[in-house]
Amino acid sequence: MAKRLDGRLLAARHEASLRASIAQHLATADDPPGLAVVRIGDDPASGVYVRNKAQACGRVGIESRIIHHPATASQQEVLESIHQLNGNPSCDGILVQLPIPPPLDARQLLLAVDPAKDVDGLHPLNLGRLVRGEPGLRSCTPAGIMALLAHGGIALDGMRALVIGRSILVGQPMAILLQQANATVTVAHSRTRDLAHHCRQAELLVVAAGKPGLVGADWVRPGVVVVDVGMHRVPPQRQGEQGTLRGDVCFEAVEPLASHVTPVPGGVGPMTVAMLLWNTVQAWRLRRGGVVGTDLAPLPR
Ligand code: GUN
Repeated sequence: MAKRLDGRLLAARHEASLRASIAQHLATADDPPGLAVVRIGDDPASGVYVRNKAQACGRVGIESRIIHHPATASQQEVLESIHQLNGNPSCDGILVQLPIPPPLDARQLLLAVDPAKDVDGLHPLNLGRLVRGEPGLRSCTPAGIMALLAHGGIALDGMRALVIGRSILVGQPMAILLQQANATVTVAHSRTRDLAHHCRQAELLVVAAGKPGLVGADWVRPGVVVVDVGMHRVPPQRQGEQGTLRGDVCFEAVEPLASHVTPVPGGVGPMTVAMLLWNTVQAWRLRRGGVVGTDLAPLPR
């Protein structure tokens, strides 16, 4: 039976360390860290994610604000609010919540964020730093997964890893971080032939396909480490019941075979939020000329 990689537990430890770090540095800083989340439109899942991020900020002492534009907002209006946040000294981090409704141009909006405030790590400068292995703000979900793997004692050196999904939010940065940890990485996507065959070869699977229950028992080798990035709402089956959440992996089928697996919910999701908090605190300290100390190391043990 697989060990669970518990994102809730690790994120809570992470929050405790960030709370202490903020309290300590507030003695010399004028303002607490500030995070602004730009939300466009009324995608319900985005609403939940944004609320979770704001609540997590409150728990550690980050001041958060949500700038909510209607789905009918123009590119210029959203750009204007990003420019204002770039120039606002009490704002240390800016996150533009994805997906962005069409016809708005997500690339241009992400490019408009000041790279020093880009706590999502999606600005080309920060993605370039990631590719070059230089210090910089890292994408939150891949960074959170690396922290979970490290905490679980997974030795990545030489490991055969398969990342399913090639988005700039998860798949691409994940593949780079795993390579930098000396894993041998394959990236699969919607055009990959015989995905099941690739899955069976993998010793580490990171599944960010956006397809509920894609990976089942017959797709995995015994002893595999499985990281499930999927998050899908399953409506209640009967009246009076609650809806549930499920991932891209059939958890019940894979758990008996795997060596480690992340649950949904409670695996990757909380770690994404923890890394956002970490990036915001890092941006706060760096913008005040601070040096990132070891107390801000992203891997509390
Ligand atoms: N939508 C779902 N997850 C994320 C995330 O980590 N960052 C942003 N910006 N949007 C998201």
